Amino acid sequence: VESSILILSHTPGISSRALDMPGSPIRRSFMAARALQERGVDVVRLDIGDPDFALPPHFAAAIEQALRDGHTHYSPMAGVPELRAALAAHVQRRYGVDCAAGEVIVNQGATEGLNAALTLTCDPGDFLLMPEIYWPNYIQQVALAGVRPAFYRLDRNFQPVLDDLPGLAAAAEEAGSRIAAVLMNSPSNPTGAVFPRATVEALYDFARDHGSWVVSDEAYCDYVFEGEHFSPLMLDRRQPVDERIVLAVFSASKSYAATGLRLGWTIAPTPAAAARLQIINEPLTGSLTTPLQYGLAAAVAVEDAHERRDALRGRWQLAHEMLAAAGLESAHPQGGLFYFVDISRTGLDAEQFADELLQQEHVAVVAGDGFGLQPHFENAREGFYPTDLARRHIRLCFAVPEARLRQGLEGLVAFLRRKTAGEGGR
Ligand SMILES: Cc1ncc(COP(=O)(O)O)c(C=O)c1O
Repeated sequence: VESSILILSHTPGISSRALDMPGSPIRRSFMAARALQERGVDVVRLDIGDPDFALPPHFAAAIEQALRDGHTHYSPMAGVPELRAALAAHVQRRYGVDCAAGEVIVNQGATEGLNAALTLTCDPGDFLLMPEIYWPNYIQQVALAGVRPAFYRLDRNFQPVLDDLPGLAAAAEEAGSRIAAVLMNSPSNPTGAVFPRATVEALYDFARDHGSWVVSDEAYCDYVFEGEHFSPLMLDRRQPVDERIVLAVFSASKSYAATGLRLGWTIAPTPAAAARLQIINEPLTGSLTTPLQYGLAAAVAVEDAHERRDALRGRWQLAHEMLAAAGLESAHPQGGLFYFVDISRTGLDAEQFADELLQQEHVAVVAGDGFGLQPHFENAREGFYPTDLARRHIRLCFAVPEARLRQGLEGLVAFLRRKTAGEGGR
């Protein structure tokens, strides 16, 4: 025993940064659902945000052509020129703003784009201001970058409580630091909130007044069912180039139902920022997948996002009707691919709810916990805790075939009825 203790004491330890990183709850529910499926159970998967469409044929055809043309070598770190030009033209058409190809950086998915944006905008110890309910990878990225999160509260409709902002800036200063960047994600994963123009303006003005950057995660910009997507690019691009502060990050995963291709892009505020992002890409990706970029260049040249949005509209509506009929008080999502549903009246917390729903009805959803983790600042070693708001919600994705969505929601409603009527009702 003594000798093994001796050996253990010489075993290298895993870094505290790695140990402190919370795992994504989406992966956890993914694994639980997979385990059931491997036992032959038919699980309705409403857990993953992966739209069920096929890749547009011209996207696939352009990839095949690129392969045949021998575009299989290292790509420039900022992306192939054809794609950067196509993305700049796409942004110009879509938002009515100027955008040069030199301001576009291609990413290995929006995930990498966001990591690069954090590296560009924040030093270790700086604060990133972010919503209290958020896509879980943000908190992991914050941990990876050594950045401190500060959270803006969300109201009943998951819109930012703007009155909080001055107090948050003062608190960052009191902590001897500053808010280096303000993160916004509209439409939001998981809440589906779409920030109106006035809210985007308020967050943007706050950032300008405090010398902060804005990081705008627009992964779901093509899925707005009510209202309109308003990008802070539309404010920022009115400013002189050297006063611009917005980095906008986009994703082919959601826009083209291409989660497996790992393609995203960032619109950098200035050519100088773009040049830095290009350097940051080097350690993060090594290089980007070359033939796939030609596919994306062909895809963005065709403005057909409305077709995919309209194909989902009926499912978004169906989910609304079934949840509302069951009396589930969910803030109505205006965009995105998800419903973030308040399940508190069952008396269960979200993790219990998701576990039991999976085991009893074979419907997979994600517990809200991981969408609202906050660090124990007083004692960082204790890691993160989920807020009460997060623990009252589960997330479900409606971008699945309609019959499956209906089946999954029927299971959820039956489960809910049982839970609210007492356990005996089955
Ligand atoms: C809000 C949000 N941002 C970014 C991403 C990352 O997308 P990608 O697959 O392009 O890395 C996701 C993926 O789920 C997301 O939900």
